[in-house]
Amino acid sequence: MKKGEMVHDVTSCSFFALYSWLQILVVKREATVHKIKKAFVIPVSMNYEKIYEVIKEHHRFYADSLPMIASENITSKFVRRCYVSDLGHRYAEGKVGERYYQGCTFIDEIEEIALNLTEELFNADHVNVQPISGVVANTAAFFALTNPGDRVMAISVPCGGHISHDTVSSAGLRGLEVSYYPFDSQEFDIDIDATRKMALNEKPRLFILGSSLILFPQPVKEIRDIAEEVGARVMYDASHVLGLIAGKRFQDPIKEGADVMTGSTHKTFFGPQRAIIVSRKEIADRIDRAVFPGIISNHHLNTLAGYAIAAMEMKLFGESYADQVIRNAKRLAERMHELGMSVVGENRGFTESHQVVADVRNYGGGSAVAEKLERAGIILNKNLLPWDSLKDTENPSGIRLGVQELTRLGMKEGEMDEIAGIIHGVVSGSLTYSKARERVKELRNEFNTVKFTFQEHPAYEFYDLC
Ligand SMILES: Cc1ncc(COP(=O)(O)O)c(C=O)c1O
Repeated sequence: MKKGEMVHDVTSCSFFALYSWLQILVVKREATVHKIKKAFVIPVSMNYEKIYEVIKEHHRFYADSLPMIASENITSKFVRRCYVSDLGHRYAEGKVGERYYQGCTFIDEIEEIALNLTEELFNADHVNVQPISGVVANTAAFFALTNPGDRVMAISVPCGGHISHDTVSSAGLRGLEVSYYPFDSQEFDIDIDATRKMALNEKPRLFILGSSLILFPQPVKEIRDIAEEVGARVMYDASHVLGLIAGKRFQDPIKEGADVMTGSTHKTFFGPQRAIIVSRKEIADRIDRAVFPGIISNHHLNTLAGYAIAAMEMKLFGESYADQVIRNAKRLAERMHELGMSVVGENRGFTESHQVVADVRNYGGGSAVAEKLERAGIILNKNLLPWDSLKDTENPSGIRLGVQELTRLGMKEGEMDEIAGIIHGVVSGSLTYSKARERVKELRNEFNTVKFTFQEHPAYEFYDLC
C-alpha cells in the first residue's frame, strides 16, 4: 500500500466514522425533539387559547351580521365590566341584611341599589331581583301561587306562549294542569268571551299572560275580571317586553290588574341574562320564599351588579330607546308587507312591540327561510304560528324577527327599509347570498357601537384581560 493511499484511507475512514456519528446524533436529536414535543404539545382539547380564538371568531361574525333574534340584546361595556369582578365567586343567600353567609356587606349595597331602581322603574310595591333567568322567575311564581294538581290557563306555544307555561316544562314540573286560551289568530289575541265560558267551567287557579310571540298588548284588565269571578290570580310573563314596559311604551301589567309580573332582563331590557319578579305587596312573602330557599341558592352576584347598571341605563335612556324600537319594528313590518311578504297582525297594524312575525310558507317554510337568511348574515329564528300544530316544530310556518339589538346599535327606519329589501331579496331568490351578505356587511359597518348608554363604545369587541 502506498503511503499516500494509506493516509487517504485513514482520512476517509475517520471521515466516514465522523459522518456516521453525526448522523446518529441527528437522528437521536430528532427522536428526542419528537419525544419532547409529544410530551409538551398541548392536545386541542386542552388548548385554552383555542376557546378565545373561537370566541373572537364569534365576535367577528356578529360584528358583520344582523342580530335579529327577538329574545336577545347586547349589553354595554359598563354592564359587562361587572361580570369579571370577584362578585362572580361569591354567595349571598337570603335577603339584603339577612344573609346566611358572612362577607356580604358590599353585595348588600349593590342588591339594595338594584331593588330600589327596579321599584322605581316599574312603580312597584314589591320586587325580587334574584332569579337568574326568566324560567326560574316563572317557576318561582308557580310555586308561590299554585299547588300541584291546580289548573292554569296559558297561551299555547303555537299561539306564542312560552314552553315554561306548559306541561312540558316548568308548569308541568309543578304538577299543574294546563288549559289553553281560545285564540283569535286573525286579531292575534285571546278570545275573551270564549275564555270566560271556559274559565267558568274549568275554574283555573292562575291565568298566565305574556308570550314569546308578542306583537300587541294583551287583555290584562279583561282577564283580571274573569279571574275575580273564579277566584284566580293573574301572572304576566313580561320577558320579551320588559324593556318596553320600563321605557313606558307598552302596557303596565301590574297597573292593569296582574298580581305578579315576571321577566327576563336581556331581551328588550338592557341585560344581563337574568330576571326579576314584580308583585303586589300581599303576595310578596310567598314570592320571596319561592325564590329563596325555594328554587335559588346562589343568585349570580356579578350579573346582579350588571343588572343594576342596566336598570340605570333603562332609567336614563329607556323611553327614547323603546320609542325607536317600536318605530323600527313597525317600519320593518310595513316594508316587508309592501314587498309582498305575509306579515302577521295586519288587522292591527302588524306590531306594537319589538317583534315582526311573517308567515313564510310561500318561501319554503320557517326552517328553510331562517337558514337561507343566516347564509346572508341575518340571524333570526323560525317560529310556530297559531295555525301550526306542535308536530310542525321542525319546520313551522313562520319566522320571528326582533329589532331591539339593531335599535341599540343606532339603526332607524331607513335601515329597516334596507333590511326588509335584503330579506325579501334572499327569500324570493332575487338576490344572491353573496350580494346579500355584502349589503349586510356594508350596513353593519356604519352601526357598530352600543348606544343608549353612558358613553357610546364599540359593540362586539373582545375585552382581553390577559
Ligand atoms: C315569554 C318567555 N318567558 C320566559 C322565557 C325564558 O327566559 P330565560 O331564557 O331568561 O329563562 C322566554 C325565552 O325566550 C320567553 O319568551
